[in-house]
Amino acid sequence: MKIIGLNGSPRKNGNTGYLVKYSLDRLSEKGIETEYIDLIDYNIGQCTGCYKCVEAKKCVINDEFMKIFEKMVDSDGFILGSPSYHSSMTPMLKAVLDRAGFSGRWYANDMKSKSESYEWKGNAFSGKLVAPVTVARRAGQNFTFAQILLWATANDCIIPGSTYWNVGVAGKGGAMDADEDEEGKGILDHLTNNFEYILKKLKK
Ligand SMILES: Cc1cc2nc3c(=O)[nH]c(=O)nc-3n(C[C@H](O)[C@H](O)[C@H](O)COP(=O)(O)O)c2cc1C
Repeated sequence: MKIIGLNGSPRKNGNTGYLVKYSLDRLSEKGIETEYIDLIDYNIGQCTGCYKCVEAKKCVINDEFMKIFEKMVDSDGFILGSPSYHSSMTPMLKAVLDRAGFSGRWYANDMKSKSESYEWKGNAFSGKLVAPVTVARRAGQNFTFAQILLWATANDCIIPGSTYWNVGVAGKGGAMDADEDEEGKGILDHLTNNFEYILKKLKK
């Protein structure tokens, strides 16, 4: 059982990174293997819409995206962390999810013409557990959360819930104070309990 955490914040030691790591630590305590990744450490550009992945069955852009994609494919699920930037996920995380979602679709499927019936053969992320963790100072957590959920629910993933949305509240002026967000951490405690519960059922 392996869950990876992607931090979509450019601030490595910011609130999103803290809460993603906090979640992974709780999973580690349950005996689940984890890996934490700061996307800022990777050179990953945006999807160019070339559609070459349809034939190639992988993204053909020559940068470090495939390193992340392979880690995602090799895992049982991922925690996708993003701060809210003007109520949206960061461009870094969006770039990864656009490229992963599109190229991951052609991994096992061919593009059909309008008249052909669609026989779903799964994709790179079918059955993986995915949870967003989003952070904002004042507002926008839920929009960012919803963006990530929309990606996951169109990519054949399973979504563990919690007692509330997995969101953090940051202090003013770029404060890095997620460690003080006791309610946020409690929500993540329960989220990780649900990860464990579902993973154990799936692995039986
Ligand atoms: C470019 C930018 C846009 C932001 N937009 C919002 C926003 O829409 N709503 C909000 O409440 N906070 C906003 N913030 C504040 C961040 O969400 C907050 O500082 C958060 O802790 C950043 O995450 P990090 O600590 O993981 O880097 C923004 C910050 C930046 C730098």
